[in-house]
Amino acid sequence: MKIVTIVGARPQIIKAAALSREIKNHFSNEIEEFIVHTGQHYDDNMSEVFFRELQIPKPAVNLGVGSSNHGEQTALMINGIEQVLLEHKPDGIVVYGDTNSTLAGAVAAAKIHIPVFHIEAGLRSFNKRMPEEINRIVADHCSTLLFCPTRTAVKNLETEGFSSGLMGPFSLDKPGVFHCGDIMFDNSNYFSGLAEQQSQILQQQQLAGKAFVLATIHRNDNTDNRERLEIILEAIYRVSKKMEIAVILPLHPRTQKMMTEWNLASDLPEGVDVRIIPPVSFLDMIMLEKNCSLVLTDSGGVQKEAFFFGKPSLILRPETEWVEILEMRAARLGGNTIDDIAGQAEALLNYPPTEFPPIFGDGHAAQFICETILKYNGR
Ligand code: UD1
Ligand code: UDP
Repeated sequence: MKIVTIVGARPQIIKAAALSREIKNHFSNEIEEFIVHTGQHYDDNMSEVFFRELQIPKPAVNLGVGSSNHGEQTALMINGIEQVLLEHKPDGIVVYGDTNSTLAGAVAAAKIHIPVFHIEAGLRSFNKRMPEEINRIVADHCSTLLFCPTRTAVKNLETEGFSSGLMGPFSLDKPGVFHCGDIMFDNSNYFSGLAEQQSQILQQQQLAGKAFVLATIHRNDNTDNRERLEIILEAIYRVSKKMEIAVILPLHPRTQKMMTEWNLASDLPEGVDVRIIPPVSFLDMIMLEKNCSLVLTDSGGVQKEAFFFGKPSLILRPETEWVEILEMRAARLGGNTIDDIAGQAEALLNYPPTEFPPIFGDGHAAQFICETILKYNGR
């Protein structure tokens, strides 16, 4: 069968590595994959680096949509994806996660009756102010096969009227819901050894054997509100100074843009060791996650990878879709003030959690997804 995989944003490109690898190694006689890059992310360190480093097949098409408002960006993607689908007539389309590229792929395919296979289906923040929440809900309701990383995700879909445990054939009106584990757990396991061999980030940052904190910030609620961004940065400075610890902050271009505009972090206060660096490769990121003492993040992917590698995280958001991590007490939600955020971070550094049970599957999500897609062939 022929499938089209849609990628566009950094986390989707990384997720696609797991499925492409599985297809290449075990299903190449049965599945032909054709990757379409929407061009949502385009800087080398947000896109191309992952194709090179993770050996993902080159996209057959790059729509080059670039950055713009939600409406314009999504519309350009829908238009471009529809043309590709009409030309290539695949048996199904794979979309990942919850970005505008996910939404566009799902809508374009469902409207022309091409089955949508949604990987990372069923996640909900129950906060519709997040663009991602709208994208997820629409993508799920355009899908024929829904692959859920957690049991909570299955339950969320059931609450919205989906049924799990149905027998095929499946269709848009009778979708199949599957609990398959997290495809990023496959990737973190697979690339962990390679990262140890290839990454030089700890040496470059002179971090080998030293305690440090890893931080990432890119959610629009955190970056587009100056007061909120200043609170987060001040809290990070306080943690660095009080705990005498380095903080490594690989900065997303969205956050970089706002910090430049508002002239934030141009001068660091005395006694603060916060290292703002460009986005790093996935292998470098794995080494930072594996060796840090604490993760401060608003990223969906990074909070989960922290858990995979047995590290606590402070989630810089009012809620999370990955509620299991909170339930296990491996993470906390950061608050609204400098005191809240710094206080929670210090508590996690002083009293780190110790339980990180394997709740994200068996590391073979991609195999399950390939087998299930073939079994039902989108029907
Ligand atoms: C997008 C996703 C978000 C995901 C994130 C992963 C949506 C609505 N949001 O957010 O769910 O968590 O990707 O990283 O789809 N920019 C560059 N170079 C790039 C890409 C972006 O400079 O290669 C800058 C541009 O100024 C752009 C801004 O970042 O306007 C935001 O990019 P965009 O793709 O719209 O959203 P993200 O914040 O990256
Ligand atoms: N990541 C990376 N380099 C970085 C920051 C993140 O390789 O500098 C990886 C990270 O390990 C995870 C993914 O990008 O696999 C998460 O992407 P992001 O935080 O952009 O988006 P989200 O997961 O929140 O949608």
